[in-house]
Amino acid sequence: MDFFTYKDAQLFAEDVAVADIAKAHGTPVYIYSRATIERHWHAFNNAVAKHDHLICYAVKANSNLGVLSVLAKLGSGFDIVSKGELCRVIEAGGDPTKVVFSGVGKTSDEIRFALQQNIMCFNVESDAELDRINKVAGEIDVKAPISIRINPDVDAKTHPYISTGLKANKFGIARDDALRVYKRAAAMPHLDVKGMDCHIGSQLTDITPFVDALERLLILIDELAEHDIHISHLDVGGGLGVPYNDETPPHPNEYAAAMAAKMHGREHLKLILEPGRAIAANAGILVTEVEFLKQGEEKNFAIVDAAMNDLIRPALYSAWQAIIPVQPRLDIAAQKYDVVGPVCETGDFLGKDRDLAIVPGDYLAVRSAGAYGFVMASNYNSRCRPPEIMIDKTETIVVREREKLKDLWKGEHKIT
Ligand code: LLP
Repeated sequence: MDFFTYKDAQLFAEDVAVADIAKAHGTPVYIYSRATIERHWHAFNNAVAKHDHLICYAVKANSNLGVLSVLAKLGSGFDIVSKGELCRVIEAGGDPTKVVFSGVGKTSDEIRFALQQNIMCFNVESDAELDRINKVAGEIDVKAPISIRINPDVDAKTHPYISTGLKANKFGIARDDALRVYKRAAAMPHLDVKGMDCHIGSQLTDITPFVDALERLLILIDELAEHDIHISHLDVGGGLGVPYNDETPPHPNEYAAAMAAKMHGREHLKLILEPGRAIAANAGILVTEVEFLKQGEEKNFAIVDAAMNDLIRPALYSAWQAIIPVQPRLDIAAQKYDVVGPVCETGDFLGKDRDLAIVPGDYLAVRSAGAYGFVMASNYNSRCRPPEIMIDKTETIVVREREKLKDLWKGEHKIT
């Protein structure tokens, strides 16, 4: 559930009319709801409350300082994939000792910085990465806390670009190889073997692959114990889907409770969850203004002022996101439109074949845009990226200003 609702025939973000925000700050504009972010985080946290646990929000989903600071105040942990994300967490007031560092290509510089910040754990993806972390930790004379990412080889049944737990994917260590890698890690002088992790994919709408993966990991953990390798946490990654259209993903309660139930009798193992989308997606909308309506021979187009550079998910994954009027009209009939942006690419669309009753100047809201929205935005076609605004009940807080034209060529140099 989120806090974007119609009241008095217009869309509100919490207690603020979306049209008023659009008028005051211009379009396109990302709008987030603090209450929604908090509600989603608590849903995960409460569902696993009985088990020792940590919710490590996946920063990549939405790394705005406003969003991170809201989560930091709740005591959240964070899952990061770069030095940049770690710096954002620290800047937002997050606790680095609650940070897990994922990703297949950590550089020596990133590893050194993360060690200096005393992060909770490195989620290691390869033999070569173990060597690198051991070397860097040795250079600054510390022991690096590590977890090995296991590729459980389960089919997440999601979009191939965001499926990560199959043998064919670049992520993690194969189950059959896990014991060997753990033994190697345990023998390295500057590593402290702490955990096991996995992440099988994103936007999963069924609980079964999560449970299958967890069961496979628990078998491995028992096998490790037989070889006297004892770990203290199990990180099951993120990936819980959200209802963009007619999907019916399990509620975070149901998902997290199923995970916690499998941990029964393993009270010594801390459970870590890395949700990103399920916390942020439905806590954000992208608001855009209709510029022109164009009747094509085969299709009608609503040309709006947001484009693929602002929200790339429809173009990149053929993702479907709801597009709704900010001030619904009853005075005209709905027509079918492809909602497209001004970028010079046929793939520049936000939605296709949408029934909308609109005229130029109307505002539309693209829903579920809080995750993998602004973070994937670019300046393609030399377009300034939109502002991000956090609504907190009646308050409107600009958490990122609209980019200015001068920002577009910052750091560039002309030839004289
Ligand atoms: N942990 C790891 C190691 C991950 O790689 C990811 C996402 C997450 C956690 C968070 O997953 P979530 O709970 O958000 O599903 N850009 C794509 C999604 C890419 C996800 C990559 N990894 C999209 O827009 O659908």
